[in-house]
Amino acid sequence: MTRRVRRSELATPASNDRMFAKAAGSGADLVFLDLEDACAPAEREAARGKAARALRDLDWGRTTRAIRMNGVDTRWAHGDVIEVVTGAREALDVIIVPKVRTARDVWWVDVLLTQLEETLNLRKRIALEVLIEETEGLQNVAEIARSSDRLEAIIFGAGDFSAAQGAQVDTNFDPIVDYPGDIWHYARSRIVVAARAAGIDAIDAPFPNYRDPAAYRAAARQAAAMGYAGKWAIHPGQVGVANEVFAPTPEEIAHARRLVATYREAEAGGLGATGLDGILVDAAHLRLAENVTSRAELLGL
Ligand code: GLV
Ligand code: MG
Repeated sequence: MTRRVRRSELATPASNDRMFAKAAGSGADLVFLDLEDACAPAEREAARGKAARALRDLDWGRTTRAIRMNGVDTRWAHGDVIEVVTGAREALDVIIVPKVRTARDVWWVDVLLTQLEETLNLRKRIALEVLIEETEGLQNVAEIARSSDRLEAIIFGAGDFSAAQGAQVDTNFDPIVDYPGDIWHYARSRIVVAARAAGIDAIDAPFPNYRDPAAYRAAARQAAAMGYAGKWAIHPGQVGVANEVFAPTPEEIAHARRLVATYREAEAGGLGATGLDGILVDAAHLRLAENVTSRAELLGL
């Protein structure tokens, strides 16, 4: 499986080709052209060709190129996959599957992709990400996380999830009452645990309030603290914040490298634990530090 950076995943409506160049130059780790909910139903079929052309023709630099297809229980799903993959070929890296409820939803896309890749003689495999945004999807998230070797990430879709659960939230998916703690903590926890257990990434939810970068930053930092690898961005203005929050700082990297070196030295001397700056350091600290160093390597830091 390709290891990708996905600190920021920027949504762009696939029907709106005036927004494509800005998305391609946004600096997002991943951009997805959205054939689903950001696209009016009447525009969805025409948007497939626009998406395929943009994926093929624009300069995306090091940005991962993705689409969000329509859910597998809609009439658009097979056409989305067939038309965009046929039109974009190797210029499409990832398909995001929304409203996944069961592992078989993922298999359906996986099988269709396998047939298409063979028919079109594609030189690379298209990867998948899924949105957990139905209560049934959350119930099945552990099985979904292991449903396909194309699957690289699970995204928490707080908007649809609020609706599926019947939660009373505002337009930023925050509770309308003074709720103690994070109303989405249970969903966020289950998703990140399932993703990490399957060896894939968890990506945090969209944050509609694009005029409040400080609140977006706080939400991103909380997700990062839980183990999320990145966050959805609904506006190019959110991309820089996510890229910063989900990258280790130079201090964190330096500390992690020093910790690894200290531990290895102790290990070579036959010890399983040692001290660093007055703090006990053992094998669990080593794993934590290696999480930081491997993220730094992936980012070329
Ligand atoms: C994303 O699709 C969401 O529903 O939050
Ligand atoms: Mg949704």
